[in-house]
Amino acid sequence: MKVRKAVIPAAGLGTRFLPATKAMPKEMVPIVDKPTIQFIVEEAKKSGIEDILIVTGKNKRSIEDHFDANPELEQDLEEKGKTELLHLTQSITNLGVNLYYTRQPHPAGLGDAILRARSFVGDEPFAVMLGDDLMEDKVPLTKQLIDRYDKTHASTIAVMPVPHEEVSKYGVIDPDSEIEPGLINVKAFVEKPDVDKAPSDYAIIGRYLLTPEIFDILAHQKPGRGGEIQLTDAIDTMNKTQRVFAHVFNGERHDVGNKEGYLETSIEYGLSHPQIKDDLREYIINMAQKLQKEDKNSKKK
Ligand code: G1P
Repeated sequence: MKVRKAVIPAAGLGTRFLPATKAMPKEMVPIVDKPTIQFIVEEAKKSGIEDILIVTGKNKRSIEDHFDANPELEQDLEEKGKTELLHLTQSITNLGVNLYYTRQPHPAGLGDAILRARSFVGDEPFAVMLGDDLMEDKVPLTKQLIDRYDKTHASTIAVMPVPHEEVSKYGVIDPDSEIEPGLINVKAFVEKPDVDKAPSDYAIIGRYLLTPEIFDILAHQKPGRGGEIQLTDAIDTMNKTQRVFAHVFNGERHDVGNKEGYLETSIEYGLSHPQIKDDLREYIINMAQKLQKEDKNSKKK
């Protein structure tokens, strides 16, 4: 069956970005000038996804507004002859995918958020796309997972190696054999293991291709790490009755879910943004020279 649907969980409280996220959804925090969730929706579209369910929560209404038309703004831009901005604004409403919204009433974990998508997904395979990870590659990562699914008809989870001391921040796989380049049979999926107990350094990154059987498992899933219903635990259970593969991502991953990653990503995107790239480049070079001087001076002392 063709993969047509994606679920984007966006109900998290965004505590890592307080105070910015006190009244504003973390998904609306921009990288230069584009909210992070728009990057995710664009990746879905480029991957051939037709229908997207965004699982939101309280204080998240601006996500819906962002993808909706804004007639007042559009009229103003038109009257002032700001055609380029007008087209930019309208293009967000005409991304060419259908967006649906539902709410997760309590932040009970990623697994619980995905369970909210059950009737939207029905009996089809679907993608899950987490908003904290921006992925770059020639073929979008979600499309890579869909291509795997088209051949194997099995759930496939995107993974990539991370520094060993960071494994406790992620779901981690216990890899078995590599059945073809970049496709791994998995013995177990473990959510946020302690560093000394981690079965590998292959971390689950924010893209999943799942078969609908995951919902029956999620409906009975007991709380795991952090007292939350964990998607990783449900995937581990599913792997015992049907194959779940890991797909190794070789592209670039930007973790915009923490302050440092967010700033680094903003700088990188800024350096290829047509309006600001030249000035930003000059600023960074000057700043680097200044910092180098400061470092040298402090070593002399
Ligand atoms: C979630 C998942 C985790 C995964 C991570 C990827 O954790 O539970 O398995 O490795 O996303 O970003 P979170 O970062 O939401 O705590």
